[in-house]
Formats: sequence, structure tokens, C-alpha cells
Amino acid sequence: MNSADNGSPVLSVNGVSKRFGGTQAANNLSLELYPGEVLALAGDNGAGKSTLIKMISGVYQPDSGEIKYQGETISNRSPRDVRDLGIETIYQDLALADNLDVGINIFLGRESMKSVFGLPVLDRKFMRREATGALKHLGIELNNMAMPVRYLSGGQRQAIAISRAVYWKARVLIMDEPTAALGVPEQREVKDLIKRLQNDGVAILFISHNLTDIFEVSDRIYVLERGRKAGERLISDTDEDEVVAMMMGRILDD
Ligand SMILES: Nc1ncnc2c1ncn2[C@@H]1O[C@H](COP(=O)(O)OP(=O)(O)OP(=O)(O)O)[C@@H](O)[C@H]1O
Ligand SMILES: [Mg+2]
Repeated sequence: MNSADNGSPVLSVNGVSKRFGGTQAANNLSLELYPGEVLALAGDNGAGKSTLIKMISGVYQPDSGEIKYQGETISNRSPRDVRDLGIETIYQDLALADNLDVGINIFLGRESMKSVFGLPVLDRKFMRREATGALKHLGIELNNMAMPVRYLSGGQRQAIAISRAVYWKARVLIMDEPTAALGVPEQREVKDLIKRLQNDGVAILFISHNLTDIFEVSDRIYVLERGRKAGERLISDTDEDEVVAMMMGRILDD
């Protein structure tokens, strides 16, 4: 989808910077993300990708600059507030609670309660039913919703984390290396899910080291080099050689 067709950005990052000791992890970064577009964030190890998304998701506060969601500033919000507003961030390893079942994982931090003899208890049945519907919406079938998620494959775990974002109607989905630890068929599934969400109008910011994945699923690419923006391209206007040159600091736009 072309960003020009979508009116105003759902997310805008305006000149944010973040320093850790002597390291300028993010240096005056700006970007815009539009509904229904997939933006890839690329860069070598330590380029500042995770730092940038953690500023968006509320884990880090920027030293300077501003982040806006649907036109309102979110620069000083907590991760919980940012998630409740509709920006869901998925980390490969930290996304799920291993000992809990799929239903509860969809509701993590927002559990549904019912009253039994006047006491509040988890409404597991409701959560499992809702979770089944959320997974089905994405074309995912699990035969045992009561199974602790530690028994699921990497791809299934990723799918549950994505379902959680869909169930809570996230407008922005941020994924840090979503396919890095997955087998080939599972990578395929996650990429298909990204496409489906995109068709629902969700904006996706997706970090990857895998240029093949990036060229397959993204509309645009934003490249970081040692905390700076090296460049930004429409996927249709660039190729792997140019992206690698940007990652190595051999091309700097700004
Ligand atoms: N909490 C922190 N404390 C100190 N330094 C940090 C912290 N987080 C990140 N850094 C430093 O900031 C720089 C950018 O790190 P960041 O994790 O954002 O890179 P990245 O692009 O996500 O790398 P990778 O591809 O390896 O995940 C690195 O030099 C890193 O060492
Ligand atoms: Mg990282």
C-alpha cells in the first residue's frame, strides 16, 4: 500500500535522541508510519533499532524529541499506557508467560475475572473462548487451548503474540526480529500473518536482519547506522546492495 493513499500517519517520531553513557544510541531520528503499511527497520548490530522501538513502546524515554500516536504525544507514557492506546510490541522471547495457557496469554495483564461466592477468580473459560476466536480470525488452529504455551513451537508462540495484538485492536504492531528463531515453515506463517494484518489496516514496524524477508513483506525500509538515519527508501525503489551500503555507512542521506 502506498503511504500517500492513507492520509495522516498513525505514528510519528520527531527528532528523538537517546544516549547511554558514551554511546549515542539514537541520534535525532524521525519517521512516519501510515495505516496499513509495513515499514522495515534495518541496521547492523548495535545500530539503534531496539533503542528506537523501546522509545516508541515506552520502555525508554527519549532524551529529546517527541513521539506522536494519532496526533497526540506519547513521549512520556509507560509501556502499559502505550499498549493500552493501541501500540503492541512483540519481542521474540519475552512475549509470553510460559506456564500459562493460550487463553490467559492473550489476556496477559488484562485478565478477565468472574465472581465465585463473592470472590474474584480468573474467568479461564471466557478467556479461552475469546482466544480461540482471535486465533481463528488469523487462520490459526490449535487443538489444545489449555496447553501451557511453553509446549508450543516458536511460530505458534509468535502467532499467539500477534493474536493478542489483534484481539486488543492494536493500530500499530512493532515486531523485533519476529522470524529470527523460527524454522522455515513458521517464518512463512508469520510473514502471512503480517500481510493479513496489513490488509486490516494495521501499521507494522518490523525489525529484521534478513533482507530477503524485508524485501518480501515491507513497503518501505528505514536504515540506521550507529544511531543515525542512513536512509529511507520505498522497497520498490531500492535493492539489497543499496541497503547494505546504507547499513555500512557508505550512503548517508541526511
Ligand atoms: N540499556 C542500555 N545501556 C547501555 N547501552 C545500551 C543500552 N541499550 C542499548 N545500548 C547501546 O546502544 C547501542 C544501540 O543498541 P540497540 O540495542 O538499540 O541496537 P540494535 O540495532 O537493536 O542491535 P541488534 O541488531 O544487535 O539487536 C549499542 O551500542 C548498545 O550497546
Ligand atoms: Mg536489537
